[in-house]
Amino acid sequence: KKVVLAYSGGLDTSVILKWLQTTYACEVVTFTADLGQGEELEPARQKALLLGIKPENIFIEDLREEFVRDYVFPMFRANAVYEGQYLLGTSIARPLIAKKQIEIAEKVGADAVSHGATGKGNDQVRFELGYYALKPDITIIAPWREWDLRSREKLIAFAEAHQIPIAKDKRGEAPFSVDANLLHASSEGKVLEDPAQEVPDYVYSRTIDPEKAPDKPTYITIDFEKGDATAIDGKKLSPATLLAKLNELGRANGIGRLDLVENRFVGMKSRGMYETPGGTILLAAHRGIESITLDRGAAHLKDELMPKYAELVYNGFWFAPEREMLQAAIDHSQQYVTGRVRLKLYKGNVIVVGRESKYSLYDQDLVTFEEGAVAYDHRDAAGFIKLNALRLRTLGQRKKKLGL
Ligand code: ARG
Ligand code: SIN
Repeated sequence: KKVVLAYSGGLDTSVILKWLQTTYACEVVTFTADLGQGEELEPARQKALLLGIKPENIFIEDLREEFVRDYVFPMFRANAVYEGQYLLGTSIARPLIAKKQIEIAEKVGADAVSHGATGKGNDQVRFELGYYALKPDITIIAPWREWDLRSREKLIAFAEAHQIPIAKDKRGEAPFSVDANLLHASSEGKVLEDPAQEVPDYVYSRTIDPEKAPDKPTYITIDFEKGDATAIDGKKLSPATLLAKLNELGRANGIGRLDLVENRFVGMKSRGMYETPGGTILLAAHRGIESITLDRGAAHLKDELMPKYAELVYNGFWFAPEREMLQAAIDHSQQYVTGRVRLKLYKGNVIVVGRESKYSLYDQDLVTFEEGAVAYDHRDAAGFIKLNALRLRTLGQRKKKLGL
């Protein structure tokens, strides 16, 4: 019996590791991914070795480029936002982790996988829908739903009994739960559980306070090719380095903070704080380039599909055919979404101040208030308005007849 565990090297997943070894008496294979969470990976290897994992059973992968190129960028082509505000930073990372775990399970001949998500959240759903989609006969072990280590004290006691090293600041109650990657950092739980209380300053890690951001704006340009960002200030960058650079710019200008109460897939409301500095800039820029390169019909249809797409990502249906169908339509729409957007970053704000494209549909000659194009005859507008008004006039007449 072999199980592939999504292992961060932190206290919780270290306890899970030990628990799998002792409860299930199975051989544990650890998988640790660099998704840009900003933590060293070597300590995770050392800790796994210390907990008795064989060197050949330790898998560590840098997934930053794949994460941004194949998950974040496709999602941003859709301008996906959940419930009007959440940029889905955690949601979009889960399918990639699930995919890698299954790949490793196939490689080492493991029949089970395990993760550290709780039994109350979205992440368990996202991981497990991914596992089942990619390996229908997989066995899933979700320790948080099975064990009796319900409290922090019990967890710590278990760790001590099994010689699991505990960082000093982990002994006391951690002040909140964090999930981080290149796209965002999210904090939930504990001190944040009362939605009436403002998020304390110390919870923020990715952005400076917008009130303390520079009084002078920062101007940048972002280049797009077929809907994906390719360069900042004319300099070509790989997907992950580009997003990292936008994160730096966003951080310095206090961009991308969000305090949100959202509806979890499993049914309850939860309050979270998100920091998505680079993603917030990217979304504004992408909408900026779309504004001149997309036809109205295509743009409006995209905006209708977007909430559905965002909900699928949020609920963990990345590998479902309906997400892939929407993705195909969205990708098709991006054929001419190429060009340059100029942005002003200022005290928490992202302001699109310029856009240009060789595929622009913007026609100054057509729109100008000055003497303009022959393609548009003012006199056509009279009939256009009259026919559109026909229903409204009929309704108006009825109202009048009824004396309303
Ligand atoms: N509520 C967010 C989501 O469902 C984040 C969940 C993980 N974040 C955390 N701090 N544990 O996508
Ligand atoms: C968790 O429950 O592990 C984190 C929160 C969530 O998945 O929604």
